[in-house]
Amino acid sequence: MTINYHVPVMLREVIDFLDPKPGAVYVDATLGTGGHTEIILKRGGRVIGIDVDQEVLNIAKERLARFGERITYIHTNFSKLNQVLDGLKLETVKGIIYDLGTNLVQLENPERGFSLYRDGPLDMRMDRSLPITCQDLVNNLPEDRLREIIRNYGEERWAKRIARKIVKERKSKPIETTLQLAHIVEETVFWKGCHKKKGDIHLATKTFQALRIVVNDELDSLKDSLKGVITYLEPGGRIIVLSFHSLEDRIAKHTFLEWAKSDPPLVKILTKKPLVPTEVEIKGNPRARSAKLRVAERIPLREK
Ligand SMILES: C[S@@+](CC[C@H](N)C(=O)[O-])C[C@H]1O[C@@H](n2cnc3c(N)ncnc32)[C@H](O)[C@@H]1O
Repeated sequence: MTINYHVPVMLREVIDFLDPKPGAVYVDATLGTGGHTEIILKRGGRVIGIDVDQEVLNIAKERLARFGERITYIHTNFSKLNQVLDGLKLETVKGIIYDLGTNLVQLENPERGFSLYRDGPLDMRMDRSLPITCQDLVNNLPEDRLREIIRNYGEERWAKRIARKIVKERKSKPIETTLQLAHIVEETVFWKGCHKKKGDIHLATKTFQALRIVVNDELDSLKDSLKGVITYLEPGGRIIVLSFHSLEDRIAKHTFLEWAKSDPPLVKILTKKPLVPTEVEIKGNPRARSAKLRVAERIPLREK
């Protein structure tokens, strides 16, 4: 079977900032199918590759098998990054990258329930051992909670109408598939006069994003992970966060600022404004269009 590997976003920028060195250790907190990591390994670096999705991790293992023991695969949520590094007895690493969100393998497999275009069970769990699926949320949450989720995590202006329509529809028939939900949202938003132009994003994109964030507890995982990780970065080492919506980007921005303003400062921020992909990259890979990249560099603690 041919697998379409995820196309790594802003690869050149990520590698320029990480500047991988032979023998140095890097953490890829979102290994995916290993696009960024492959280059680190090719440059002779070592990688701790984490992914919460076992299926994705298996694909990465096959793809990167030729690098042997220079990569360690860990199936866990990156919110447990501290424990992972302690468990491996690693005091510091040279670089850390988070490339947030879902990858192509998850999006293209309708069975995973992330797709707006291919029908499948409304699942959306990146970690299949999680107890609650998207289907559970849309069929059981009260209308006001659904509205709150769609508004807060999707930044969707039609949240109120969408939540009302979901609750109305589920009374006659449970919402069980991705296309069922996508159509419900599309009808609601379209009816409000929001006309779709060629090349526009799908009208249910924001609703899907919101529900996915809740199913996978994405924002708290990122906050928890960033909270303790900076002390594991060696002086001169760099941390990179590549985000795909403003909620994630805000968490990265505020965390970096907190570190930079602490006394003594822990990092120097290398990207005053987030970097974005070039037009050429977006043309070749439209999924990159919303990417924002932030980088901070660890500064040595002052001697007392
Ligand atoms: C955009 S993809 C990464 C793609 C990768 N950089 C590449 O080039 O192939 C994001 C990956 O992060 C994983 N992920 C998302 N949230 C996670 C979390 N909280 N902990 C660990 N992995 C997570 C997803 O399962 C997905 O495989």
